Amino acid sequence: MDDVTDTVFRQVIADIAQPDLYFTEFVNVDGLQSPGREKLLPRLKLSSKKEHPIVAQVWGKDPENYYKTVLDIKEMGYDGVDINMGCPDKAVVKNGCCSALINDRKLAGDIIDAVKDAAGPTFPTSVKCRVGFTTVDLSWIEFLLLKILNMLSIHLRTTKDMSKVPARWELMEEIVAMKNKISPTTLLVGNGDVLSRKQGEELANKYNLDGIMIGRGIFHNPYIFSEESAWESTNKQTKIDLYKKHVQLFADTWQQNERHVQTLNKFCKVYIQNFPGAKELREKLMSCKTTEKLLQVLS
Ligand SMILES: Cc1cc2nc3c(=O)[nH]c(=O)nc-3n(C[C@H](O)[C@H](O)[C@H](O)COP(=O)(O)O)c2cc1C
Repeated sequence: MDDVTDTVFRQVIADIAQPDLYFTEFVNVDGLQSPGREKLLPRLKLSSKKEHPIVAQVWGKDPENYYKTVLDIKEMGYDGVDINMGCPDKAVVKNGCCSALINDRKLAGDIIDAVKDAAGPTFPTSVKCRVGFTTVDLSWIEFLLLKILNMLSIHLRTTKDMSKVPARWELMEEIVAMKNKISPTTLLVGNGDVLSRKQGEELANKYNLDGIMIGRGIFHNPYIFSEESAWESTNKQTKIDLYKKHVQLFADTWQQNERHVQTLNKFCKVYIQNFPGAKELREKLMSCKTTEKLLQVLS
């Protein structure tokens, strides 16, 4: 997730309750293969063995840049590559990228072919997608399955849906039948509105899925990947210590200001919640302009 699943947060989560697979923030291949490369590299920073297994998620327009980026990613030590064909952001879609590729199958196919070429037979290749652009269109899923990917992660909403309607889990049965027919070896991952591990496991069992992808659920519960979440009973001091750990790691990792301090505010809301005085403390923390000040207030 953009501005969320960086190396810092992944390490914090690894110490709490690890997912089976991490995804990086999406990173633009056209930017990476341009003079602006240096600015984007922090998005691909890997710091620790704890962050594995991990796939680098990429997006962009030019198949040749995808090809070059996959070679880079392999060298960096990633465990696989995921192509973002699901982002509904207006600017991205206007540029013909991500979920706009639903309407440009020629380019979508060329991108997947370029990525597979660079990946070779052993480096896993996957796609993250939605279920249509303005309306549900399972011919898109069929198209992607025919590409015989290693994994397909499906956010069960259309582009037009953004996140405004409930995820359309009722489509999953038909999608699974399609995948069993077209590409039984492709691992199928469901995504949308999963707020606990238990709920995810129930959905995976119900539809016979290989996995569940959790996004915003982590904002409600950083222990979401554990069998028995301890978050409800976590006390104030532990929550403050967790945020302190996050901020310290952030300060140690991004010493050249590669990331704005303001990006920490999202995490402040995650940890500093549900205890007396949390709101007041959050307000104080969110007004801090440096990590030094943040750590001082947290202490
Ligand atoms: C802040 C934020 C950033 C996101 N960034 C990405 C991204 O970089 N790549 C991606 O595939 N999806 C991204 N998403 C979408 C989520 O991965 C997920 O598909 C969506 O939120 C629905 O799942 P959920 O209900 O589990 O959150 C992002 C979502 C949010 C809220």
